[in-house]
Amino acid sequence: TYVIAQPCVDVMDRACVEECPVDCIYEGGRSLYIHPDECVDCGACEPVCPVEAIFYEDDLPDEWVPYATDNADFFQKVLPGRDAPLGSPGGAMKIGPTGVDAPLVASQPPQGE
Ligand code: F3S
Ligand code: F3S
Repeated sequence: TYVIAQPCVDVMDRACVEECPVDCIYEGGRSLYIHPDECVDCGACEPVCPVEAIFYEDDLPDEWVPYATDNADFFQKVLPGRDAPLGSPGGAMKIGPTGVDAPLVASQPPQGE
């Protein structure tokens, strides 16, 4: 799978969402997240991110390796008003912004100050 790492936090450009052929990039409160079971590794999202936040999982810089787990954790959350984890079967567009974040993203100080 591809993974969205630290540079997306508080930036959320969303150019990646337009590129994904399987609509597997979901919106949290401070970052977007790629569903690891739905991503087909097409790589279309990676070059369009203006802050280079997206990496194939094996190519993550060392300091951002934990974002792979954090992306996956996001989809284990059961959101208010839902009775099951997000995705699979998925489709990020019909879900829209969720306003919640996985633990690592949530723990980041405000970015871009
Ligand atoms: Fe974030 Fe880059 Fe997508 S900033 S929303 S990963 S285009
Ligand atoms: Fe979509 Fe990017 Fe995966 S475009 S299929 S999230 S590599």
